[in-house]
Amino acid sequence: MLLKLVTLFFLLLVHYAMGEETCLGFVPMKMRAETISLVDYGGVGDGQTLNTKAFKEAIYRIEHLNRPGGTLLYVPAGVWLTGPFNLTSHMTLFLAKGAVIKATQDAASWPLIDPLPSYGRGREKPGGRFSSLIHGDGLNDVIITGENGTIDGQGDVWWNMWRQGTLPFTRPHLLEFMHTSEIIISNVVLQNSPFWNMHPVYCSNVVINNVTILAPRDSPNTDGIDPDSSSNICIEDNYISTGDDLVAVKSGWDEYGIAYGRPSSGITIRRLTGSSPFAGVAVGSETSGGVENVSIEHITLDNTGIGIHIKTNEGRGGYIRNITVTNVNMHVVRMGIKIAGDVGDHPDEKFDPKAVPVVDGLTLKGIWGDNVQMPGLIHGLKSSSFTRICLYDIKFEIVGGREVPWKCADVSGSASDVEPLACTELASPYGPNFCANAV
Ligand SMILES: *[C@@H]1O[C@H](CO)[C@@H](O)[C@H](O)[C@H]1NC(C)=O
Ligand SMILES: *[C@@H]1O[C@H](CO)[C@@H](O)[C@H](O)[C@H]1NC(C)=O
Ligand SMILES: *[C@@H]1O[C@H](CO)[C@@H](O)[C@H](O)[C@H]1NC(C)=O
Ligand SMILES: *[C@@H]1O[C@H](CO)[C@@H](O)[C@H](O)[C@H]1NC(C)=O
Repeated sequence: MLLKLVTLFFLLLVHYAMGEETCLGFVPMKMRAETISLVDYGGVGDGQTLNTKAFKEAIYRIEHLNRPGGTLLYVPAGVWLTGPFNLTSHMTLFLAKGAVIKATQDAASWPLIDPLPSYGRGREKPGGRFSSLIHGDGLNDVIITGENGTIDGQGDVWWNMWRQGTLPFTRPHLLEFMHTSEIIISNVVLQNSPFWNMHPVYCSNVVINNVTILAPRDSPNTDGIDPDSSSNICIEDNYISTGDDLVAVKSGWDEYGIAYGRPSSGITIRRLTGSSPFAGVAVGSETSGGVENVSIEHITLDNTGIGIHIKTNEGRGGYIRNITVTNVNMHVVRMGIKIAGDVGDHPDEKFDPKAVPVVDGLTLKGIWGDNVQMPGLIHGLKSSSFTRICLYDIKFEIVGGREVPWKCADVSGSASDVEPLACTELASPYGPNFCANAV
């Protein structure tokens, strides 16, 4: 214990000495006052026995005894089949080395919960949505960590329902927190989520670090981490390879998101490595509550659709502003950078086409790629031009040495040191020093 603390302190020192920024200390890592094991609540880790009742009873006990200092629920090595369960405050879910929490594939045992107010309906289907496997609502101080144990959503039954068009309601996430503050998720592997892997929504003070997220490249909508209408989030040192965007910052959907009006802000995405058929890091397209103050740094992408994708649409309203992207390395990508105002679908016919988003103050600096097919596309809206878009020190080597131009429309800003040469729209009106001063 003391040794661990000394090691942690040393690691912190090393981080600071190297000038390397870190989420450590952003949300304090708590040592819990007591530990209980899933086995004491009837858990059987044989991969066959359903452990939903054991999880629920253990967590009920944590909630109702409410020990000062909180409780750690220890999940030993083994395969723990379970249906969905809710977490409680002041608890740590600890997955030992070799522990696998495995979701049941029996869709009937997944409860339906209300749609999110900022979406007005399920993201895929009207009405309610299936609860996530591990769910938390209205909590404070929750940790999910361990020794690289696994949470496996066994998503293929859900992906097949999606492919066959037989989904009755919107698919479940693997992990969702709503209205929760002080969350740490670290040292775990998430795999084969039915839908988005991790969805903090209406949350604040969240650290997600040292996590591995895996799903097949052809699995539908298996986004890695989607911070949604949430603030103060630090996403650091993760490896993500899934079938959709690795990280996508969101804030609600069209008229419902505008009415709910909760932005995402204060978000850092740092030292992310991975591969996606869609975006490496995205903002959008659901940004109706607004997204601002996002820093995306030290990203390494391999075999990816679009490196950095900022996306919104007419009807979204809201804003996307003060986003900085620095130090991105891409290898084998279809398009380096895309910033576009015509992406994504609408919840229903009631959206207001005159609710146009404001996109202002995006700085992209130090972005390099090889084996890139297209450098970039920046398309604002006729009714809402994108402003103060700054590109600086960006080099894409195009496949086969071809000359492929950037495509721009309804955008203004500045570009310098960009290869292939950025479009002329970015030559005005701020002058050549704007970019250099922007970061
Ligand atoms: C979790 O709690 C919500 C209420 O917040 C409830 O609707 C849902 O059924 C609970 N899920 C499970 C699996 O018990
Ligand atoms: C990352 O996870 C691995 C495996 O669980 C662990 O050995 C390592 O100490 C973790 N690093 C940090 C910074 O937590
Ligand atoms: C954790 O497990 C994942 C998946 O098996 C593996 O890729 C990763 O290297 C492991 N991390 C550590 C630090 O052992
Ligand atoms: C974004 O940052 C600016 C400047 O620091 C600050 O004034 C603003 O309140 C921040 N936005 C939010 C939603 O926190």
